Amino acid sequence: MRNNIVAGNWKMNNDLSQTKDLISDLKNQTKTSDAEVMVAPSFINLQEAIKQTENSEIEVIAQNMHFAENGAYTGEISANMLASIGVKTSILGHSERRAYFNETDESLVKKVDTALINKLRVIFCFGEDLDQRKSGEHFNVVESQIKNALFHLSSESWKNLVLAYEPVWAIGTGETASPEQAQNMHAFIRKTIANTHGDDLANSVSILYGGSVKPSNAKEIFSKPDVDGGLIGGASLKAEDFFAIVNAF
Ligand code: PGA
Repeated sequence: MRNNIVAGNWKMNNDLSQTKDLISDLKNQTKTSDAEVMVAPSFINLQEAIKQTENSEIEVIAQNMHFAENGAYTGEISANMLASIGVKTSILGHSERRAYFNETDESLVKKVDTALINKLRVIFCFGEDLDQRKSGEHFNVVESQIKNALFHLSSESWKNLVLAYEPVWAIGTGETASPEQAQNMHAFIRKTIANTHGDDLANSVSILYGGSVKPSNAKEIFSKPDVDGGLIGGASLKAEDFFAIVNAF
């Protein structure tokens, strides 16, 4: 069956010494759940974080990557560069990338393909904004986001995909989707995948929820049958809070 996963997205937080401190705090925590644990520091601190987490249960992952294999893209980082330092997973399509860096379904198809070709696992993020939720378009929006970026992939490729439903209105706002709202959307996503790729594949894909997950609400959200973990922003910056979420399973 599918894995439970809790991934911390540090975003543009933590310089080198803060990265070392947080990793060391994380390594002092005790994991009592079966969840895979991942953290995503900034690009510049990935190598140090990988070194510090050797022989631990924490996987260090990237927050983003470029779609091209290499070339004249000043300031960008390629999938191969990530793989070459030992990164095995990248977040792609986070709503902040879509909103502030013009990432679209079209550019994300290319990123997903490039990541998979380079043998990276992908945590693919998507979700509706507040207006879309209010006008009742959220199911259609999510369906088109995943169809456009992922439905060309083979069953083999889907083994390296993790989905992260992150309603934009719940990210960094303190407002969380209710456990029922999360479950309804996750069940819809799984059904959408099952319709085109079959039940076995749909049941094997981990679908994470992201948006103001905290120690106080994680247990209830993770108790829903189609919620297989979380992508955690703010609460991943404190080791105790992050592990309280990891251990909420
Ligand atoms: P948040 O962020 O937990 O701070 O709401 C979630 C995310 O952006 O992945």
